[in-house]
Amino acid sequence: MNNPLIIALDFADKREVFHFINQFSEEKLFLKVGMELFYQEGPVIVDDLKERGHQVFLDLKLHDIPNTVKKAMKGIARLGADLVNVHAAGGKAMMTAALEGLDSGTGPGNSRPYCIAVTQLTSTSEQQMKSEQLIAVSLRESVIHYAVLTKDAGLNGVVCSPHEAKMIHDRLGSDFYTVTPGIRLETDDIQDQKRVATPGFARQAGVSAIVVGRSITKAADPLQRYFEVKKEWEETRQ
Ligand code: C5P
Repeated sequence: MNNPLIIALDFADKREVFHFINQFSEEKLFLKVGMELFYQEGPVIVDDLKERGHQVFLDLKLHDIPNTVKKAMKGIARLGADLVNVHAAGGKAMMTAALEGLDSGTGPGNSRPYCIAVTQLTSTSEQQMKSEQLIAVSLRESVIHYAVLTKDAGLNGVVCSPHEAKMIHDRLGSDFYTVTPGIRLETDDIQDQKRVATPGFARQAGVSAIVVGRSITKAADPLQRYFEVKKEWEETRQ
């Protein structure tokens, strides 16, 4: 997990993915495969990316009964993804089951994938959380509650907003792994994201890894933009 820059491969199919990746020639990347691409191309997409030497974050956000998640994670571990995730709302027993599944599917000599949990989706507003989930506390309290539960279950970290990362690290330590989407450069259009932050802001907040999608994938020169994001991250003091 030493690469702090994860590129979200939000493409419709494999052809678009490889057209994009080919621009990076020898650069070894950390790539996020989400539901759109995974359900379109199937598990072989993970093999294809791993064979080329890239790290893979398989962002499938599992949320089901513990036994089902355990069995699913066993299969996911066999794919060789480096980072996987679940919804913390599935509960502590489900998260523990996820780890058991990953352990049983990890081959001898391989490392178990890192497993993190989504706390509250960044697309959920506080008002929506209160009226639809009937959670009476603030959004930040709900996020920290889920982060504590995630750590208690033994997972490696959480997906959260860059604006929540400092609070999480203050409470759970700097080693707790935080992954934050919603990253934009100062010059970018924010599109449909609600609360965005720059790579520099995320670094200062102690974020472990940022997920960057359209800022890189839709740039006129994705390679140049990738190095620009990387430079801002590296030149910001934690
Ligand atoms: O293009 P953009 O940088 O906004 O892409 C962000 C990526 O992170 C997308 O793949 C999106 O699905 C994902 N994501 C997110 N917010 C979350 C969890 C995942 O934006 N809470």
